[in-house]
Amino acid sequence: MSSITVQPELLIERILTLEIVRVTERAAVSSARLRGHGQEKAADKAAVDAMRRELNRLPIDGTVVIGEGELDEAPMLFIGEQVGTKNGLKVDIAVDPLEGTTLCAKNMPGAIATLAMAEAGTLLHAPDVYMDKIAIGPGYPKGVIDLDAPPEENILNLAKAKGVKPEGITAILLDRPRHADIIAAVRKTGAAVSLISDGDVAGVIHCAEPKTGIDIYLGIGGAPEGVLAAAALRCIGGQMQTRLILDTEERRERSLKMGIKDPRKKYEIEDMVKGDCLFAATGVTTGAMLDGVKFGKDVIETDTVVMRSVTGTVRRVRAEHRELSKFHLD
Ligand code: FBP
Repeated sequence: MSSITVQPELLIERILTLEIVRVTERAAVSSARLRGHGQEKAADKAAVDAMRRELNRLPIDGTVVIGEGELDEAPMLFIGEQVGTKNGLKVDIAVDPLEGTTLCAKNMPGAIATLAMAEAGTLLHAPDVYMDKIAIGPGYPKGVIDLDAPPEENILNLAKAKGVKPEGITAILLDRPRHADIIAAVRKTGAAVSLISDGDVAGVIHCAEPKTGIDIYLGIGGAPEGVLAAAALRCIGGQMQTRLILDTEERRERSLKMGIKDPRKKYEIEDMVKGDCLFAATGVTTGAMLDGVKFGKDVIETDTVVMRSVTGTVRRVRAEHRELSKFHLD
C-alpha cells in the first residue's frame, strides 16, 4: 500500500472545513429561536454569542477582520478580536453571525449565519461602510462586466456572452431608493430585475447558482457583506468588482486606520480575498439558497453550504441535532 503524505497545513484546513459548519449551525439555531419576534438586536446577539463560543473552540489562532464593529462599538466579535484555542493555523476570519437581521426578526426568507476563513493577512479589512458591487457567476470571459461601466452596457455585454437577448438576463439588487436609476436602466434594456429587501451576501452568491435564475448582482450594499460574498465566489467561481464608498472625511480616516490607502481603489475578488479560503453559511429562515432551521420535537435540523477554494468543493450539510434540542446552549 502506498503511503500518502499530507502537508500539515492542508490537513488542518481540510478539518476546518467541517469545523466551521458547526460554527454557522450554532449561530443559526440560536438566532432562529428568535425568528419572527421583531427583535433584531436580540436575534443578532444570540447569533453573535453562539458563533463566538464555537469559534473559541476551534484549533486556530484567529483574528476577526470583519466583525460586528470596532472595539468601542461591539463588545463581541469586534474587529481585531482574537478567537480560537491559539494552538493552530493563523487565520483571518470574516463573520456575519446573522446576515439579514430584519429578515430574521420578521421571519422573512433569506436570513443566514455566515463566515469566511483564510490564511492570516489575506482578507480585506473592510470598514463598516457601503460598497458598490457588481458580480456574475462563473463561465464568462474576464472583463465581461465592469463596475465603472453603465448598467446598460454591463447587461448588453453579459447577454452577448451568455448568448441571449437582454430579456434573458435577470439582475438582482437590494430594494432601495438609491438604486432607482440602475433599476430603470436595467429594465430599459429588456432585462428583468429581482429585488431583495435584505441579504446581499446570498444575493451575490445567487449569480453563481443557475437554479436561482439570477445572472448579475448590481448596486450598493455593506462592505463586510461584500468581502464575505467575494470569499464565496473565490470558492465557486465568478467575477466581482467592488469599491468602498468613502464619501466623508471620517470614513476615509477610519479606513486609512484599517490600512486602506487608496479610497477609490477598484477591488477584484483577489484583492479582497488574497489567498485560499473557506466559506460557510447556514440558513436561519428558508431562502433560495438554504432551508431555515427546523425545530422538531426532539431534533433540530439545519441546512449549511460549505465551500473550499483550494479544491472548489461545495458541500451541502443537512444536519440533525439531537443534544441541541435538549440542552439550551444560550
Ligand atoms: P444586516 O443583517 O446587518 O441588517 O444587513 C442586511 C443587509 O441587507 C445586507 O445584506 C446589506 O449588505 C446591507 O444590509 C445593506 O444596507 P442598508 O440596509 O443600509 O441598505
